[in-house]
Amino acid sequence: MKILVATEKPFAAEAVNGIREIVEAAGHELALLEKYTDKAQLLEAVADADALIVRSDKVTEEVVAAAKKLQVVVRAGAGYDNVDLKACSARGIVVENTPGQNSNAVAELAIGMMIYMSRNQFTSGTGCELSGKRLGIQGFGNIGQLIAKKAVALGMDVVIYTKEVKEKHQRWKATFSLEHLYSECDFISVNIPATPFTKGCVNYNLISKMPKGGCLVNTARKEVVCEDGLEKALSERPDLKYVTDIAPDRYAEFKERFGKQIFATPKKMGAETAEANINAGLAAAQQICDYFSVGCTKYQVNK
Ligand code: 3PG
Repeated sequence: MKILVATEKPFAAEAVNGIREIVEAAGHELALLEKYTDKAQLLEAVADADALIVRSDKVTEEVVAAAKKLQVVVRAGAGYDNVDLKACSARGIVVENTPGQNSNAVAELAIGMMIYMSRNQFTSGTGCELSGKRLGIQGFGNIGQLIAKKAVALGMDVVIYTKEVKEKHQRWKATFSLEHLYSECDFISVNIPATPFTKGCVNYNLISKMPKGGCLVNTARKEVVCEDGLEKALSERPDLKYVTDIAPDRYAEFKERFGKQIFATPKKMGAETAEANINAGLAAAQQICDYFSVGCTKYQVNK
């Protein structure tokens, strides 16, 4: 089988080597399309691929149509909002993700972002410490849980918001009200997927409830934060801050208007560590091999 790794933002070399080893040991062929700049390159590369590994690369209806032999797509990462599930399902293509494999990298970035914003984006001026502050975690999956543990180690008081408080979550302070979470927490970390239900859910009503000096941290997806609501909250409350790994559409304008109240990484870097690339990339390769060898679909997301 031909397994294509199509990554506009490439994996670390070590991860690619590991993927190749797994694929070739299972008797398959690896094709690589890295740092592509044009959709046409992806359309051409998928034409004879039986399987596809991507990161945030968009697997649209057009890509699916061009991939005549495609049987399985693995998004090496958590969020699969970049894959057109409907188009894949219509063709019987299995779509999987690799949950948890890059979570630690994202969790570390979220902590780093909190420190960065608390210390005036590493410029002069009096900052504040994380110790003793309250962190609200919206979305308590793999990433949220790791952030919580790291935050506790830093002396933070953690409150979680999650739709399902499982038994293993019992030790955490939890709230079932987002309004309550936002109004009680100095920092809020957003760790939810982008779905039709979550788009724009972090809105003015919530952001403006944050206490004085509150900081919203978004390492999830741009779409979950309502940009107009964010704009209104930041303009009414110069004490509020927003830090994100995925710049809002109007970031240049916001940066100009809100200065140090806002910071976005130039390119999404939550999962940009060698460890995360290796974990997610190798898991993706193994999942594809397992699918071809024994039909394993453990991580299928379009069932
Ligand atoms: C994910 O959903 O796994 C993260 O957002 C990482 O995305 P990336 O692979 O594009 O860095």
